[in-house]
Amino acid sequence: MSEQEFDVVVIGAGPGGYVCAIRCAQLGLKTACIDKRAELGGTCLNIGCIPSKALLQSSELYEQAAAHLGPHGIGVKGVELDLATMMKRKDRVVETLTKGIAGLFRKNKITAFHGKAHVTGKQTVEVETENGAEVLKAKNIVIATGSDSVNLPGIEIDEQRIVSSTGALSLHAVPKHLVVVGAGFIGLEMGSVWRRLGSDVTVVEFLERITPTMDGDLAKELQKLLKEQGMTFRLGTKVSAVEQAASGLKVSVEPAKGGDAETIDCDVVLVAIGRRAHTAGLGLEDVGVVLDGRGMVEIDHRFGTNIDGIYAIGDCVRGPMLAHKAEDEGVAVAEIIAGQAGHVNYGVIPGVIYTAPEAAGIGKIEDELKTDGIAYNSGVFPFMANSRARTYDQTEGFVKVLADARTDRVLGVHIIGANAGELIAEVAVAMEFGASAEDIARTCHAHPTFSEAVKEAALAVGKRAIHF
Ligand code: FAD
Ligand code: NAI
Repeated sequence: MSEQEFDVVVIGAGPGGYVCAIRCAQLGLKTACIDKRAELGGTCLNIGCIPSKALLQSSELYEQAAAHLGPHGIGVKGVELDLATMMKRKDRVVETLTKGIAGLFRKNKITAFHGKAHVTGKQTVEVETENGAEVLKAKNIVIATGSDSVNLPGIEIDEQRIVSSTGALSLHAVPKHLVVVGAGFIGLEMGSVWRRLGSDVTVVEFLERITPTMDGDLAKELQKLLKEQGMTFRLGTKVSAVEQAASGLKVSVEPAKGGDAETIDCDVVLVAIGRRAHTAGLGLEDVGVVLDGRGMVEIDHRFGTNIDGIYAIGDCVRGPMLAHKAEDEGVAVAEIIAGQAGHVNYGVIPGVIYTAPEAAGIGKIEDELKTDGIAYNSGVFPFMANSRARTYDQTEGFVKVLADARTDRVLGVHIIGANAGELIAEVAVAMEFGASAEDIARTCHAHPTFSEAVKEAALAVGKRAIHF
């Protein structure tokens, strides 16, 4: 058993962990990063953000070519799906990016360890590598072990017919009928991929609405548009059992409030009902680190646990389970360890669902403002009145700007429409600088661009949109 010493040992090489390791190294700290996967990049690069976006892009192109180019005067005959090639492209994208992280580690002189890590003391981590156990001594330990998908009780995920997002990213054939349990980020993105490739998709959601964390108007519009595209929604409904039959799967559903059960026949079920912190078996409790009831590591505002020198970031701590939130926490904790003032502004973290159209939100949702009794003005601008959207034939959706009634400060912006995920970045910068709706409205936006809809919605806060 060999022993090595570091200033910082990071457990987990996802967006939280690998970014933290790079920032630590930039700040002159001797850094190691451990992951049990052979490839770096964590959930996001290997089985999350990146493969899902690769398939979303390919499936969108397929659907465009098969059904939407006619009005542009482009006739395409004999559009065929080659699923194996589509999957290989996705795998290549993943491989390029994970290798890229390995390159960044070499450049920054970060020592990578591959193997399962256990915290064995307040300053000691043991790694089970292929070549035996390694003991790493560290002044600082950062837990960045991410999250795992939540299972439905009594329903076993086999990743073939009953799948989590991981299986849904690698199906060998297009399901005839895919039942998606959970109308959240994963359900709607992966449901969109397989619907575009030819599946009938039924989304079963426990609540009476989809995407519970997004703005209510946005969610309604998204559901309407996805329904028009052919997705079926069963809201206020729960899945009580999934039976494997020779002919396929039989999914028992019943109203969430109670009532008669019925059966939906399908060939694949995707369970996408949320994710939970991945902290079991790490040895944290043995060294006295406090976890909450859901297994999340409890931290203070400096990402410190109750044990000095042990920190935690990313999906295994409170807050939205998003890659960019984990990355920003990785940078902040590295700077704190180096004696600087690392900080994350949790009020300005965008969330994007990469459906077509995309749905993006930042800051407060309207329901929250109402509940909190905050007086606000709202400005809405539809993409059908945006000239670039017209030239693209992508006129669905709107931009909604919510601004404080007294100060005009932007409190939240919610966008559903083409490129919403890119448009929200301008708002993030504006909000970070404490902008008012007037500031956005008076900023010159290039014409013709989708971003003019953001400016117009900001103008609409003061009831002076020009084009609507
Ligand atoms: P992770 O990325 O989960 O990394 C944790 C790493 O720790 C893993 O590699 C794991 O192997 C390792 N690990 C755990 N325990 C140990 C141990 N004991 N020893 C050694 N290593 C260990 N977010 C977005 O912002 N945008 C998206 O588009 C997006 N799409 C997603 C799509 C899907 C299908 C999924 C599942 C998630 C998606 N997410 C997306 C969420 C995003 O992937 C996570 O928020 C992000 O990966 C969290 O980063 P992290 O570093 O905290 O953890
Ligand atoms: P989610 O939290 O986004 O959605 C889960 C949905 O399942 C909710 O609508 C919830 O009400 C519903 N639900 C819960 N229990 C249920 C049950 N028993 N039956 C029916 N419905 C039930 O979780 P999801 O989609 O699994 O994604 C996990 C997380 O991963 C997301 O919250 C997000 O943080 C991250 N992610 C982010 C993406 C992005 O940024 N584009 C894409 C994919 C995932």
